Amino acid sequence: MAKKNQTLGEFIIENQSEFKYSSGELSRLINSIRLAAKVVNHEVNKAGLVDILGAAGDTNIQGEDQQKLDVYANEAFIKTLTNREIVCGIASEEEDDFITIQGRNKKNDNKYIVLIDPLDGSSNIDVNVSVGTIFSVYRRVTPEGTPVTLEDFLQPGNRQVAAGYIVYGTSTMIVYSTGHGVNGFTLNPAIGTYYLSHPNMKFPEDGHIYSVNEGNYVHFPQGVKNYIKYCQAEEGDRPYTSRYIGSLVSDFHRNMIKGGIYIYPNTSKDPNGKLRLLYECNPMAYLAEQGGGKASDGSQRILDIQPTALHQRVPFFCGSKNMVEKAEEFMQKA
Ligand code: AHG
Ligand code: MN
Ligand code: MN
Ligand code: MN
Repeated sequence: MAKKNQTLGEFIIENQSEFKYSSGELSRLINSIRLAAKVVNHEVNKAGLVDILGAAGDTNIQGEDQQKLDVYANEAFIKTLTNREIVCGIASEEEDDFITIQGRNKKNDNKYIVLIDPLDGSSNIDVNVSVGTIFSVYRRVTPEGTPVTLEDFLQPGNRQVAAGYIVYGTSTMIVYSTGHGVNGFTLNPAIGTYYLSHPNMKFPEDGHIYSVNEGNYVHFPQGVKNYIKYCQAEEGDRPYTSRYIGSLVSDFHRNMIKGGIYIYPNTSKDPNGKLRLLYECNPMAYLAEQGGGKASDGSQRILDIQPTALHQRVPFFCGSKNMVEKAEEFMQKA
């Protein structure tokens, strides 16, 4: 039972029994993610001091190279998970290939793999707008005791055992699911503790917000153009409100709380859209469904897509159930 004001640590321990497989390992994994998130949060909060502390590519006062924040975040998450020997493999938006972690005594006996988008919305950093981190967890499919292979990473999203995101916003929050609903925890920065602030988060079935980069309108498929016109028409509860931050995590987070749809369609320039199936769409689709929402590529359920490559991209329609279904209807008609 989710109790408001419970700490994330207490929540993890209390809900361990819900995990069917190696619950201790999955708990430790979530624990490591919350720890890395604190480290990244600290660095993100200093980003505004870049003129004082030095920009990416510069050398700082200690003679160290300053890193871009997405590289920093990538290393922070990978290091935390690797040092604690909790997972058997990691794939990241920032890495060309997956990383094998042999674990204690090189036994390859850890059970989970993690996929991450270490810093989502990184173009927002320089202008002090919210960014995030997205993570996705699977059980490996190849036999324990052997190093992980690509097959372990190319699983459809419906096999996820956990997924979540961290939003470095006006407050820092971690929102995640292990398949029993979605819970959100807010960081109290004074003491470094996350508290359950948003128990059992649900997408409203209907919403009034549409989030899409309308600057690309001319490149959109006809179905999306028609749906946007529908959102803008004066009829019933429309026109809807347009909100687009340009950081999937923040756009999703707002839409889940207020009700809305996020669209990154295929365009004439990017025939598969821009967002990555494994690091962005699958974890967000899992959270959407866990919260009663919906996610599709315009016709097919995101979580049922069989991935064929680590950095594969897909069109993404995600959010309040009725809104996503309406958008799909427009896609089919066009
Ligand atoms: P990332 O910063 O991890 O590369 O992801 C950026 C993604 C996503 O967060 C965002 O919604 C989208 O790119 C914005 O793209 P446009 O600038 O093309 O709208
Ligand atoms: Mn991203
Ligand atoms: Mn990223
Ligand atoms: Mn990127």
